[in-house]
Amino acid sequence: MATALQQDVEDRYFVREIEKNDGRVLRLNQCSKGDVGCVVWDAAIVLAKYLETQFFNPQDGVCTWSSKNVLELGAGTGLVGIMAATLGAKVTLTDLEDLLPLLHLNIRANEALVTGSISAKVLEWGQNVADFLPCPDFILMADCIYYEESITPLMETLKTLSGPQTTVICCYEQRTEGVNPKVEKLFLEMLLRDFQCEEVPNERQDPEFNSPDIRILHLCRQM
Ligand SMILES: C[S@@+](CC[C@H](N)C(=O)[O-])C[C@H]1O[C@@H](n2cnc3c(N)ncnc32)[C@H](O)[C@@H]1O
Repeated sequence: MATALQQDVEDRYFVREIEKNDGRVLRLNQCSKGDVGCVVWDAAIVLAKYLETQFFNPQDGVCTWSSKNVLELGAGTGLVGIMAATLGAKVTLTDLEDLLPLLHLNIRANEALVTGSISAKVLEWGQNVADFLPCPDFILMADCIYYEESITPLMETLKTLSGPQTTVICCYEQRTEGVNPKVEKLFLEMLLRDFQCEEVPNERQDPEFNSPDIRILHLCRQM
């Protein structure tokens, strides 16, 4: 019989399973009580599967992620960074303080599959950014472009943390309702002042997990 504590956990959390290409399964706890970061968004699934499928060379078995320093912004449940850590990357997941317990829970739930390393820290865009220097090899972000006030601090964060060797991979769902088109336009305008931007066409994404309304951009800082 379930204890009161077990029942409380079961009432609050529900699990999203994401199967890796090797058949092993990532388990992401989502929380029914909380803000937008408490669930796995479609852009995170598309980006996680892109990292897994497109950065592995089946000929020589080499994966780009091995030993790379990776920082995930606005990690939410942590799916994208956890996927990178199972591919050998040294990952720091970041989000607002409220999300840290969920990130730690999901790190523990998937640590048996991690072949690199993984930790979680608070990073509020535009605030404690210098704590995350030196610049990582990759910055990953899924579905982080959705409200206007965040765009300037998010851009400052990307600029501070992007060195000459850093690639930012930004994935987001293009939404047509409400303020979304305006927020996307503002983001792209600011982005193109400081970054070179290349969009990944759908045919270079995971063959199953891609969608016409989910964009993946590779960004490099113009020095
Ligand atoms: C739509 S959720 C996406 C979560 C996750 N990346 C995914 O795709 O499943 C946006 C995330 O950005 C985080 N976020 C929003 N504003 C932020 C800020 N100012 N600083 C840091 N993180 C922020 C939220 O807490 C949330 O986890």
